[in-house]
Amino acid sequence: MLKEKVQKSLNQQMNAEFYSSYLYLAMSAYFESDNFSGIAKWMKIQSQEEYSHAMKFYNYLLQAAGKINLSLIEAPKVGWNSAEEVFQDTVKHEQKITKSIYDLVDLAAEEKDHATNIFLQWFVTEQVEEEATAMKILDRIKLIGENKNGLFYLDHELGKRGASN
Ligand SMILES: [Fe+2]
Ligand SMILES: [Fe+2]
Repeated sequence: MLKEKVQKSLNQQMNAEFYSSYLYLAMSAYFESDNFSGIAKWMKIQSQEEYSHAMKFYNYLLQAAGKINLSLIEAPKVGWNSAEEVFQDTVKHEQKITKSIYDLVDLAAEEKDHATNIFLQWFVTEQVEEEATAMKILDRIKLIGENKNGLFYLDHELGKRGASN
């Protein structure tokens, strides 16, 4: 049986993952409207991945006989000024998510909820990858600077992302 506090925080994290999915979909739309269809595809897959993260929380809550609380999903911002700004937001967002996962791990430990703690370990590892990937793309965009060819090359490369990555 999940403790009330743990159940509430798992539901909040589920909402945060749905928001992540929303955010990356908004970013995908931004790149699509700017004709960077490769980065748009990368972002759309990222959005789907975040949806699957939310569903991991959903399934865990059900399995642990918890209550699902689907709450309002915040609307992400609509436009960005540059690819660099998008990836700056992405890095910041992933850092925020990492912090909320860590807080959740701390709570599970405090509440001696070992099962939830183990469930969360996958997300701890995943966040290392999420932050590293976003940071790497941001660094490349900074290197590219105003060079349009560089950005088109990056677009081509990110467009190769497969759904399982
Ligand atoms: Fe996530
Ligand atoms: Fe993420």
